[in-house]
This record gives sequence, C-alpha cells and structure tokens, in this order.
Amino acid sequence: MTTMTRTEALALLSARAVGTAREATHGFPHFAHNDGDWTLSPDGDWTGGFFVGQLWLAARRGDDDAVDRLARVWALRLAPRVQSRTIFRGFLFWYGVAIGLDDRDDPQLADLAVAAARALAGDANLAARLIPLGPEAEEAHAVGEGETNIDGVPGTVLLLDWAARRTGDESLRQLALDHAAGHREFCVRDDGGVIQSATFDTATGQLTRRYTHKGLADDSIWARAQAWGLLGMTHAAILDPAEFLDTARHLARWWITRLPDDSICRWDFDDDDPAAPIDTSATAIGSAALLKLAELDAREAHVYREVAQGSVDALVRTAVAPLTAGKAAGMLRHGLYNRRIDLATDHELVWGTYYLTEALSAMTGRISTARI
Ligand code: GLY
Repeated sequence: MTTMTRTEALALLSARAVGTAREATHGFPHFAHNDGDWTLSPDGDWTGGFFVGQLWLAARRGDDDAVDRLARVWALRLAPRVQSRTIFRGFLFWYGVAIGLDDRDDPQLADLAVAAARALAGDANLAARLIPLGPEAEEAHAVGEGETNIDGVPGTVLLLDWAARRTGDESLRQLALDHAAGHREFCVRDDGGVIQSATFDTATGQLTRRYTHKGLADDSIWARAQAWGLLGMTHAAILDPAEFLDTARHLARWWITRLPDDSICRWDFDDDDPAAPIDTSATAIGSAALLKLAELDAREAHVYREVAQGSVDALVRTAVAPLTAGKAAGMLRHGLYNRRIDLATDHELVWGTYYLTEALSAMTGRISTARI
C-alpha cells in the first residue's frame, strides 16, 4: 500500500473543494456520505464559512487568481446571513469572509465582515458580557436566549477583533475578550475539560447549569467541545496572551493526555465502549488548534507539533479518500455530526475538512495559519 504524502492529501482536499465550488449552483456543502455527494444547507447554516474558508486557503497557497475569484463569489453568497440571529455568524464571516481579506483592500468584503461583527455585538447579553447562541442558532431550537456554547468562541473572537482594528471601535475588541472570558467561566472545568453548553440567568448573567447538546451526557467531555474550547482559547490567546495563554495550555494538556494511542478521538472522551465511534472532525479541529498554539508557546511548541502531526498523519493514512475513490477523492471520512439524533454519524463534515486543510497547510509550510 502506498502512503499518501501530506502534500498529496492537501492537493486532494483542495481539488475536491474547488471542483464542488465550480459545479454547485445553490446551497453550501454541509456533510457528505461515502459516495462523495454533498448534502447541502440552503443558506450556509453554521457551516458555510468553512467551505469558503477552504477555497481561501487553496487560493492563497496556490497563488491562484481564478480560485481567489471563486472564493470571493462564494463569500458574497453569505451576505444574506449578516442579520441572522445566531452566534455562528462568527464561523460564517470569519472563515467565509475575513480570512480571505488577508492584507488586501476589498471594501465590499470588508464591509460585510464589519457588518456581521457589529450585528453580532448587538446581540450581546450585557449582564453576562457575552454573545449567546441566539434564536436562530443551530442548537437554539431546543433552548432559550440565556444559552451559550463553547463552539461560539472560535472565529467569533477573531472576527470581533478584526472589525475593531478595521473600524477603530475598541468596544468590539473588549467584547471579544469578554466573550472568551465568559465562556471560560461557563464551560471550562478546573481540570481543563470542556463542557459544550451553559444556561445563564439573562438578568444577572449568573451560570445556572452546564450541559451538552451532542455529547454522551451532560457532564461528559464531548470531543468537539474540547476541540472547540482549545481552539477558542487559542484564538483568545492570539488577542491577549497574558490573559488566555495559560488557559489554552491547560486545555491542550487535557487533550494530549486523553488522546487515544492511535491519535484519533472517539466522539466523546467519556464513552468507554471499545467500539465507540471516532470523530475525525474533532481530531482535525484539535490538531489545527495545537499547531496555532505552537506558534504562541515556544516552551511547549515541540510537544504540540508532535501531537498534531501524529493526528494529522493518522487522518491522512486512514480517513482521506484517495484519488482512486473517484468522485469521493479528497473527502475526510468518518466524522460524526450528531449521535443523539443519528445524523451523519460516519460522514465527511465540512468543518472537519476545513481544519484538516488548515493543519496540512501549516505543516507543509506554504502559508501561516498562526492568526486564523
Ligand atoms: N455546533 C457545533 C458542532 O456541532 O460542532
């Protein structure tokens, strides 16, 4: 059996994204079954930004104007989502729009990212000093306004900070820091494990319970909660290392200690069943976060890189569909979206593919992912 190299894997992932972007006339890739066909979300749900983000990374890495133009067209398709009342505008407009701006001046895209950041800020709860899930969030059908998720931190804090620098509105940066600090208080346990969700009193801002939407149990560590927490606190540490670097290190240590020997997470760290399914998307998020954290923490960088590289190589070896898979080539297989409702339990998940693309981009050294 020949082993795919990191460069070959990255090329396959990017070719799949660019091919899909050229063909799709509507909707945004959300998740895909083993045959390679995408299930689309009509308006990008919480995940459309990851698909566009993959195009931005491909354009930047290949210095490819045609892919850059394609990414721009897809980014503009997110415009109707600026006023959607969901925290996941952080994902949509950070990865879908802002990371494509890089150093260039593109007022139309920049206005879109600023408008999304301002609209998000308008939804902040002043007592809790964070932005809750919002009534249109993916998870919010089952909950109310005083609900929040750790997955609302990554992307969001960088988008708010980016908009603060673009506009000079310092309150957006302060909100980014408060939002990260609030989620640290609500979702991070003392041992560094992360619980996905929290309920708070909207009048006082006080935490009333912790629970999970998608994990095994309310007090279990769902793998993506830990991964999103690690990424979110790493993003916050990019903004303010003095305040957040130790937290990110703490979460990283938890991740590294509990990662299975084969370097790929099971769906929930507390599922002791030897046959518990894996979640390649959680593994990819955690790996991309460790590679970023390595850029901030010279002391532990070699450990973070070694663990991330072990996971990424394991994903490439076992879960990236090879060229011979035809239409499925370049899929990251074996992601688990939502076991509780039996949704996409052994599938490609677009965010997993994005973070594997990001991690491979960092590891092959073509672009820096240290600030995205
Ligand atoms: N809502 C984010 C996730 O499912 O990971």
